[in-house]
Amino acid sequence: MVVLFENRRSLIKEKMFIVTAALPYCNAKLHVGHLRSTYLPADIYARFLKSKGYTAFYVCGSDCHGTPILVRAIQEQKKPEEIVEYYHNIIKQQLEDSLIHFDIYSKTFNPNHYKMTQEFYERIRKNGYTYKEKVQSLYCPNCKMVLPDRLVRGTCPYCGAENQYGDYCEVCGRTYTPLQLRNPRCGICGNTDLEIKELNHVFFRLSELLNPVKKWLESAKVTEGAKKYALNWIKEGLRDWDISRSINWGVPIPGEKNLVFYVWFDAPIGYITFTKELFESLGKDWRKIWIEGEGYIVHFIGKDIIYHHLIFWPGMLIAAEFALPNEIRVRGFATLEGKKMSKSRRWYILLDEFFSFFDPEYLRWYWTTTTSESLSDGDFSFRTLEEKVNNVLIATIGNFIHRILSLIKRGNIRNGTLIANAISKAQAIINDTLQLYHTNQFDKAAEKIITLAGFGNELLGKTEPWRNLSTKTAHDVLFTCFAFILALNMLIDPILPRSARRLSEILQLEQKPHLSDIDKVFDSSYIKVILEQFVEQGKPFILFRKISRQRIQELLTLLKRRAKA
Ligand code: 2FM
Ligand code: ZN
Repeated sequence: MVVLFENRRSLIKEKMFIVTAALPYCNAKLHVGHLRSTYLPADIYARFLKSKGYTAFYVCGSDCHGTPILVRAIQEQKKPEEIVEYYHNIIKQQLEDSLIHFDIYSKTFNPNHYKMTQEFYERIRKNGYTYKEKVQSLYCPNCKMVLPDRLVRGTCPYCGAENQYGDYCEVCGRTYTPLQLRNPRCGICGNTDLEIKELNHVFFRLSELLNPVKKWLESAKVTEGAKKYALNWIKEGLRDWDISRSINWGVPIPGEKNLVFYVWFDAPIGYITFTKELFESLGKDWRKIWIEGEGYIVHFIGKDIIYHHLIFWPGMLIAAEFALPNEIRVRGFATLEGKKMSKSRRWYILLDEFFSFFDPEYLRWYWTTTTSESLSDGDFSFRTLEEKVNNVLIATIGNFIHRILSLIKRGNIRNGTLIANAISKAQAIINDTLQLYHTNQFDKAAEKIITLAGFGNELLGKTEPWRNLSTKTAHDVLFTCFAFILALNMLIDPILPRSARRLSEILQLEQKPHLSDIDKVFDSSYIKVILEQFVEQGKPFILFRKISRQRIQELLTLLKRRAKA
């Protein structure tokens, strides 16, 4: 084993990055679309930053409160705590199996989080941003429950879409209160004979924060379409926000009887709680990030929660005098074979279902190469999966690596001279790739990686070194292409971390090389040491295995059968 790539991370004195992904609701398994919009792009970005040598932490956890969990608990005749425990472990495992690497994956059902939320609220309250007011609430006499949010269904007061929840319309994206809902019915028993009760609620003076929120929004790095949406909403002004709920599941509001925080108040505070938990385990001070503003905070979210992250959340942070996020990256949803994924129509692929058929990296590759940073939705189709894996990943990158390493072994190539013009072209491609990773254009970064491998294949095709492996040209071409492979090893890592590890093992590297060392891959003396080591000890290998039509058919049949059932 050779150690050629020292870890220079600690030498880079830059801001600390906090990368977050929207906290998944702890009441259902994740499907392939969740990876597309949120967990994968955040993972790629965090992995990229770390590999480049920045100090970065990927922070996430389960969102345990709110009425969806309560609804499921009621349906399954369980306690909400049991639902949370069950799904927290499942979701955590699903994400781990997706090769998502969090520095912390915690949950909001946790004493640290209750404390943080209550302290955060106290700051807002002391700053004069809260008040109490009586609110008329829907009440189901049948279930003997107040019906906020997802406990009630009806017609959206803005766009008229039917069968919407009491807090948010999935069709037009607006938020409102259950009393505004037309034709409301109990979300548990379906009762339309609802009563109205007057209860004390706590409000957040969001209306007073219009200008600072707008100012932040205008200057923050936010996905283009999302910023437009938010600025448009703001044009109509901002209304104060009811941050309390009279249900018995959630973080209790200090000083209030029978009131808990609305889940959208406590959930984003989870980003802070989990940073604190992580930092305390590392002996670091979370306040530097979240209060003193010395960090660089990047949130990754799906397009359904733009309002919450671009308006409510900055409003809360401003009122509490906390640091604001620096970037918010938003992506759209996934359809499946051209049709909207839907639990009720049983048309979806859960992550664990996909992984029981195919390698998780193939899903990562699929979404990376087909998803741009925009609000557009993207389709998951098996035809494209086969194409992206077999004809692009394997035929270009896999094939290049395999050809070069086989020829090197066969010819016992231990040295050569770098071909200057090929190197300068490769360097330009690499610089572009790094820039694209930096700016969240992971689909384009992947394209550049493919270009680099394609360029290597082209060089090979033109020079045909296999005809006589003992010539100087053969040595130089293979030596140069070996340098490309070292670069590819680093460049694919954020997207395909497992393959990057396998490749570095094949190359007999002691650890995965980091992007902070990318310049070294064109240093002849380094290449030579690794090359010799590989020629002596490296074993033949297969990096990627083709996807078979038969497996595709099997999974497709399973999905279609479920949808018909
Ligand atoms: O939409 C959702 O799935 C929410 N659970 C996201 C919460 S993100 C953050 F604010 F906590
Ligand atoms: Zn009811």
